[in-house]
Amino acid sequence: MKLELGEAPIGKVASLARIPIAFRVEQVLDVTRTENGQGGFVLIARPIPTPYLKDYDAIPGEGPTQWARHFDLSHWGFIEARVAGRLVGGAVIAFRTANIIMLEGREDLAVLWDIRVSPDSRGRGIGSALFRAAEAWALANGCRQLKVETQNINLPACRFYEHHRCALKTVNRFAYPGFPEEIRLLWSKDISSAH
Ligand SMILES: CC(C)(COP(=O)(O)OP(=O)(O)OC[C@H]1O[C@@H](n2cnc3c(N)ncnc32)[C@H](O)[C@@H]1OP(=O)(O)O)[C@@H](O)C(=O)NCCC(=O)NCCS
Repeated sequence: MKLELGEAPIGKVASLARIPIAFRVEQVLDVTRTENGQGGFVLIARPIPTPYLKDYDAIPGEGPTQWARHFDLSHWGFIEARVAGRLVGGAVIAFRTANIIMLEGREDLAVLWDIRVSPDSRGRGIGSALFRAAEAWALANGCRQLKVETQNINLPACRFYEHHRCALKTVNRFAYPGFPEEIRLLWSKDISSAH
């Protein structure tokens, strides 16, 4: 497999919708704390009785075709991953965008807004290559930190961010009124040094 990574014009980001972001939820992660809260969070997998498919793009108003309607994308980054010319994954980095609260109004912080790999290409290191490219993009744009949001129902993504040495900073059990069973997890990675 010869993987090619490259930055694409942000105006083409809607093409990422061709890659399903959906994943099967068979286990969820219970969040606990260690050492009386002094030792950070621990995520413990728990199988669920009725597995289901979660598709963020199916939520009205969400997904790559919608972002340009809600945000000024002019400072965003879009990294494509291709194998033999076929788009197999992508990463989108949000940066310097006024109405994104996660950016905290900072210019030294970027948010990994989306990262996805085709279902048939997952588990082969493509997501990792995209993550490293997103880090490099943020670093090149003067950022010291990369933030990313996920949920406790997305075990692959949580394990993926742990693998990439992201630190779980914030846990919010009441963030999604439409999905009360989901816990919002905010991760952060210091990218001020070489990764
Ligand atoms: C999350 C995602 C991008 C990871 O991409 P990927 O190419 O499959 O990941 P990689 O092959 O680079 O995996 C790197 C490491 O992440 C962890 N990881 C990845 N998938 C995992 C899984 N299903 N279960 C447990 N750990 C996993 C492992 O530590 C893995 O290292 P290993 O292969 O040595 O075990 C991919 O699963 C995906 O597209 N998911 C759907 C979209 C999504 O949920 N995006 C994130 C939204 S917040």
